[in-house]
Order: sequence, then structure tokens, then C-alpha cells
Amino acid sequence: MDYSRITIRPFKISDADDLLKWASDEKVTYYLRWNTITTIEEASKYIQEVDIPHPWRRSICFDDRSISYISVRQESGSECHRAHIGYAIGSDYWGQGIVTVALKMAIQIVFKDFSNLVRLEAMVEPENRGSQRVLEKVGFKQEGFLRKYGFNKGEIRDMFIYSFLSTDQVL
Ligand SMILES: CC(C)(COP(=O)(O)OP(=O)(O)OC[C@H]1O[C@@H](n2cnc3c(N)ncnc32)[C@H](O)[C@@H]1OP(=O)(O)O)[C@@H](O)C(=O)NCCC(=O)NCCS
Repeated sequence: MDYSRITIRPFKISDADDLLKWASDEKVTYYLRWNTITTIEEASKYIQEVDIPHPWRRSICFDDRSISYISVRQESGSECHRAHIGYAIGSDYWGQGIVTVALKMAIQIVFKDFSNLVRLEAMVEPENRGSQRVLEKVGFKQEGFLRKYGFNKGEIRDMFIYSFLSTDQVL
């Protein structure tokens, strides 16, 4: 893998075809809060109504083609020192270190973009070993196990909680 071909950038309307390839895959959306996107119209609408207006969402790109996303949502008011991070990648690209590289890039940017941000959090289901491994490889610390914490795809699921502080080192 030539990691110099990986970039993160804002979504564009013209990403709809590429987004449809990975967002229509149930293996990708199983651990995500949103459902698969199955048509080009839905993909365009999703980019216009969700991806572009999102406060901080980037497309992870390979040779500038969208293969996934990474997003950060900051809490509001007195909790704005904290933000939640989420990501996914098309299953054709799993296991090549791409999300690890993209997450390292994103961390450097978000702590600059949000000057009052101190803590990034991620919630991961126990069965999702790939995602746990990504967080560990980047330098996130596992802090605990939250029983019956998240509601996803009609089920209440257990979650591990991970964090990365502005003072932590990217590995
Ligand atoms: C989880 C996900 C983001 C990982 O992306 P990726 O680009 O494949 O991740 P990387 O290649 O950077 O690293 C994956 C690591 O997990 C490991 N891994 C993957 N599946 C695993 C499993 N079932 N058990 C143990 N380790 C596993 C890989 O071996 C690799 O570790 P290594 O480098 O030490 O060998 C990707 O699989 C995905 O998009 N899944 C669906 C959406 C999702 O789960 N999003 C996160 C929600 S919290």
C-alpha cells in the first residue's frame, strides 16, 4: 500500500457514484447508525443533506476517489472540550491500514480546527475487533465497557469506550 495515495477532504456532489459503492454494503453499515444507501439518487441526497453540511466530515480518498468517511462531532456548550469520532471504509479496502492512516491525519487536523477540543471519544462494539485495533494502533486508550449502551439496528448493544486526549501522542 502506497499511503501517499490516501487523502482526506470534504465531500463533493460528484462523489455520489463512489459513495454508493461502499455505502450500499451491509458489511460496512452493520456497526454504523445509518442504513445502507441503495440508489444513486439516495447517495447524492445523502452527500448534499448529511455529508456536506456536517460540522466536520471528510471523505477518505484513494487517488482522490471516495472510499470511505471519517467524521468528528463536537459536543456543545460547556461540553465542547469533547468530540465523538466515527469512520468506515469500503470492504474491498479492509485490512490495508487505510483507516489507521486516515485517523492519524484527522487527529492532527481536528485538534487545530477545534481550538478548545481536549478529548476525542470513540464507542466500539465488542465484536468489532478491527475498529478496536485501529484505535489502539493510533494511540487511543480503552477506558471501559459500557453495558447495553448504544442503540443500533433495532438492538441495544454493549460498547467499549476509547479516548484520545490533545496531550496524547499519535503512535
Ligand atoms: C473497522 C474498520 C474501519 C477498519 O478499517 P481498516 O482500514 O480495515 O483498518 P486497518 O487496516 O487500518 O486496521 C485493522 C486492524 O484490525 C485487525 N482486524 C480486522 N478484523 C479483525 C478481527 N476480526 N479480529 C482481530 N483483528 C482484526 C487487522 O488485522 C488490523 O490490525 P493489524 O494492522 O494489527 O493487522 C473497517 O473494517 C470498517 O469500515 N468496518 C465497518 C464500519 C465500522 O465498523 N466502523 C467503525 C465503527 S466503531
